[in-house]
Amino acid sequence: MLMTLWLRMCVLLGKAVLFVVGLGLLGWAVATAWSAWQHRGPVPAQEQIPTDEAAMTRDVIQTAVRIVDSHRENTRYLRDAHAKAHGCLNAEVQVLQDLTPELRQGVFSEAGKTWQATLRLSNGSPYPQFDSLRDARGMALKLLDVPGTQLLKDRQSRGEQDFVMFNHPNFFVSDVAEYRQNVAAQADGKKVMAFFPGWDPRTWQVRHLFIALATLAPAPASPTQTTYFSVSPYKFGSANAKFRVAPDPDSCPVYTLPPQNQALPNFLRSALTQQLSTDRVPACFVLQIQRQDPSQYMPIEDTSIEWRESDAPFETVARIRIPAQDFDTPAQNLQCDNLSFNPWFGLEAHRPIGGINRLRKAVYEAVSDYRHARNAEQ
Ligand code: HEM
Repeated sequence: MLMTLWLRMCVLLGKAVLFVVGLGLLGWAVATAWSAWQHRGPVPAQEQIPTDEAAMTRDVIQTAVRIVDSHRENTRYLRDAHAKAHGCLNAEVQVLQDLTPELRQGVFSEAGKTWQATLRLSNGSPYPQFDSLRDARGMALKLLDVPGTQLLKDRQSRGEQDFVMFNHPNFFVSDVAEYRQNVAAQADGKKVMAFFPGWDPRTWQVRHLFIALATLAPAPASPTQTTYFSVSPYKFGSANAKFRVAPDPDSCPVYTLPPQNQALPNFLRSALTQQLSTDRVPACFVLQIQRQDPSQYMPIEDTSIEWRESDAPFETVARIRIPAQDFDTPAQNLQCDNLSFNPWFGLEAHRPIGGINRLRKAVYEAVSDYRHARNAEQ
């Protein structure tokens, strides 16, 4: 009797599990089909600017300054994002010799040209936390002595071309409206709930929550061992493109980084010091461009969408070499902190496009000016 009851319960439980799994699979299939239907080409090849973008941008600036203030604990005023640097390095960026005419744009126009550059490697967090914590890792590259008219009127004498990236291909928000809502919720201490702004399930941003979770990844063994993406699009001459910087160990002497003590708070800086300063071995990367094909789903106004490599491949336009060097000195670290990188520091040929980039124009300038002014007062 007891045995029969037990067997019946097992059968019932089995059916319940099968039902839940079936329901889950059905949900997954419907969600995948819905996403594929929503995310299909063609897309506009021009920017689409919402009328209320300027007002939303002003709101974001206020929140960003609030974040800078709140993360300051008797320290200098740090960046609102990517506050902690692993180091500022000298680098050389050499344009490939044999580029096709369509790839010879802006700073990549002259075959074989070598640009001197400064490169800042960072953690994404606004707080200078331990490197072992999950986070995005940033790379900001500044080509120096670049001739030609700069995008920003007040930067004409600077001669820069910046490339600002982190090591995930897409962003956890689509546009300015969503960024404003999300960052305000985060500044109020919300984390996961920042992606669920109301009771209406249509406002829930589940896909974007997963992007955020994937972006906050464990640290690479060294900042030289991960790929950095522009995430947002840029002009590339008359085309639109994203770019990335990927490790290229084959162009450098063979090197195996000795295991680092990852319990140390700044082990990513130690990894750089070990390779570049102690072992005197350079690090190599390639700089690659992915041109938009508007007949595919490669939108300009939605940074949450990764442009698929099957729709448009990345093409190498330059090689980056970070020579052996001593970079970890108090003077160089202070100089690094005082630098500003900004996707808008550069030429028309590489103009940032799309809502998130338009927002960055105002916010980077405001935060950078704010922290530099406050630090100068101290
Ligand atoms: C497309 C996605 C983005 C990427 C790849 C990115 C990457 C970066 C990186 C690498 C840095 C550090 C630059 C340095 O080393 O000095 C940085 C700084 C910063 N980011 Fe972003 N970011 C993105 C989106 C945004 C957005 C949407 C905002 C806000 C609207 C923002 C606000 C800032 C600010 C305020 C700084 C500090 C600027 C300074 O004080 O000099 N970022 N970002």
